[in-house]
Amino acid sequence: MTWDRWIRTVEVEPSVYAADFSRLGEQVEILLRAGARVFHFDIGDGHFVEPVTVGPVVLESIAPQIHREGGAIDCHLMVDDPSHYFGALQTAGADSVTFHYEVAGANAQAIAEEARVRGFQVGLAFNPETAVEDVLPHAASFDLLLCMSIHPGYSGQEFMPAALDRIRQVHDQRPAGVHVQVDGGISNDNIRSVYDAGADLIVAGSAIFGMEDLPRAYRRLVQLLA
Ligand code: DX5
Ligand code: ZN
Repeated sequence: MTWDRWIRTVEVEPSVYAADFSRLGEQVEILLRAGARVFHFDIGDGHFVEPVTVGPVVLESIAPQIHREGGAIDCHLMVDDPSHYFGALQTAGADSVTFHYEVAGANAQAIAEEARVRGFQVGLAFNPETAVEDVLPHAASFDLLLCMSIHPGYSGQEFMPAALDRIRQVHDQRPAGVHVQVDGGISNDNIRSVYDAGADLIVAGSAIFGMEDLPRAYRRLVQLLA
């Protein structure tokens, strides 16, 4: 399966990092029932980003549940050495891996190839201070470009408005067929403008898991894109 199959025009991706881990399976189930199919899974190594987040052991416990419904797991690797994790993520059931331009640099294409050999779809992420012009020349090797709208590390941060112009630029200048993903600070107030700027994969952590009624929060975000 590929991103072209997973994306129904646009996908709102619940970011598992923001879940209540004592009720993870239950919350994933509730969101699957509400219609979510692509789940965003953040791996932080405590070095590229400050926190150690979650890893393959946790992924393994929710992957069958998501795959049973035809869903997919999109792993965002906020780590210094992405390829080090590919084997364990493949075993755990990841479908797509996205690593950062800030660590890959000129090796971006070679690392993408390593990921493809394992059967992954592949994305390239970049931080708010990274020039879009530096990332775009590598875009043709990827299925998606992830434009960060916060400094990666934690859920619950404010959306950086400067991301909108960057999303537009990525959308307008990327090779045809490469998807545009946005991650960080998505809310009911900004999701529509993020979509209008050209994103077709929109990650939402606290805007879903921070709410009392998860299905309602997910559906509201989807509705705002209709
Ligand atoms: C943070 C992660 C995000 C995070 C998003 O660095 O990459 O995926 O969970 O959470 P919100 O939507 O709350 O900013
Ligand atoms: Zn993320």
